Amino acid sequence: MKLTLSQGTVTSIDADLLVVPIAGAGFEKHAIVKQLDAALGGELLRIAKLEDFTGKKGQALQLHTMGKIKAKKLRLHGLPGKQLDAEECRMAGVAAARSVREAKSVALFVGDEQVEQLSAFAQGLLLGDYKYKAYLTPTSKPKPPARAFIVVEHKPTAADRHVIEEAVIVSEAVHLARDLVNAPPNEMTSAALANEARRVARETGIRCTVWGKQEIIKRGMTLLAAVNAGSREEPRFIHMVYAPVPKGKKKPARIVFVGKGLTFDAGGLCLKPAKSMETMKCDMAGGAVTLAVIGAAARLKLPVEVHAVIPSTDNMLGDNAFKPGDIYRTLGGKTVEILNTDAEGRLILADALTYARKLEPTVLVDHATLTGACMVALGQWRAGLYANDEDVLKTYQDAAKRAGEALWPMPLDEDLRETIKSPIADIKNTGDGFGGSISAALFLREFVGDAKWVHLDIAGPAFLSSPHGVSPKGGTGFGVRTALEFIKSYA
Ligand code: BES
Ligand code: MN
Ligand code: ZN
Repeated sequence: MKLTLSQGTVTSIDADLLVVPIAGAGFEKHAIVKQLDAALGGELLRIAKLEDFTGKKGQALQLHTMGKIKAKKLRLHGLPGKQLDAEECRMAGVAAARSVREAKSVALFVGDEQVEQLSAFAQGLLLGDYKYKAYLTPTSKPKPPARAFIVVEHKPTAADRHVIEEAVIVSEAVHLARDLVNAPPNEMTSAALANEARRVARETGIRCTVWGKQEIIKRGMTLLAAVNAGSREEPRFIHMVYAPVPKGKKKPARIVFVGKGLTFDAGGLCLKPAKSMETMKCDMAGGAVTLAVIGAAARLKLPVEVHAVIPSTDNMLGDNAFKPGDIYRTLGGKTVEILNTDAEGRLILADALTYARKLEPTVLVDHATLTGACMVALGQWRAGLYANDEDVLKTYQDAAKRAGEALWPMPLDEDLRETIKSPIADIKNTGDGFGGSISAALFLREFVGDAKWVHLDIAGPAFLSSPHGVSPKGGTGFGVRTALEFIKSYA
């Protein structure tokens, strides 16, 4: 979808569909509604009455304009309250985007809203317009992309244009993460994911280093190698760096993102049942978020150094596969006993976190579709948020609030540390079955040293069985927007 910001009045906008969000009760006294009603010869309020439209939240009224105003169809969209909050604006944008499918051009009239609202409307429009089409064989000529306009009453200011440009970059990043997750696992192998990383690096002018199997073994990433051992596909270890040109003397903050890049999780020898395996191409969603975030940070020229570290393999059960009972001496020196080969995410992350903490990050942040237990705890729309520092936890929560993504703080419960003790190694890779998301987080914590660290268990919201909020069915790109807001708070 192509999005343009323009100036206009409700009666002069030329589009197939004109969407006008209306806030609060007493909508008929709203200046814009009066103006439209007058232009439509009183039909608008008459139809509103017949349809019981009062402008309350969630209500919509759509009508043909019979050539009385420029737009062919008009849709009033009810919103709550007088002061529009960002989330409401985002959802109004999503609703408008969904109707883009029928109309060739959609205009969203936002009148004289503040830049925050403008930004949210634009994000909603862009995020709501997504479909994974790569493998749909076209039966007819491809349609030209729909056009969307955001119309304001005043002459657009530099700040207005800036938030629109930013919304475009952010939603393109979310769409990239969605595409990477939706790509089928026979195509989206570790090598393919690394090629995507190289492409993003080339396009945004940042550094990208990729290690293959030999290098991973040589560098002592024993756990990544172990998870990969049962696969025909080679693993990859990806490290990207965006270092902004320094302005002034102060050194910028350095935020290192780590993402679980497990391209398909069969469970290894501890094989998953078929039903649980159906969606396991989503297990590289953490990697996808990480890759999308660094690309967007570079495009937005944020004054913060950003790293992306992605360990990638699939988890298969070939004849060389790692086994329950195996013990590995890890990159950081600790020994790990394997109890369950399906608890593989924490293993490949252990090596990646060990590597990442040596980069001396201001904050280390990992995204991982880590545990089904987190979905049991929080439902499929909310991610588990862990942090070993109160201030950083707060900063992440604030960032999520601004971005409109749902997280919930989870405890790094010291009592549960007992459950990952092993009698014959330093730790084991599963707990006792209770608090599974927490014991997984505690396992990761063993590898972050004294770095300030945030862990997001995105097993639920990374991949949905049906659309919810701004997210489509399938890959959602959950985490990208919060991570970018988080980076901005270190600018
Ligand atoms: N990739 C899964 C977690 C997952 C489950 C992600 C559902 C998305 C949706 C992870 O590797 C896994 O298998 N975890 C196990 C851990 C257990 C064996 C300790 C789980 O959650 O069952
Ligand atoms: Mn698993
Ligand atoms: Zn997994």
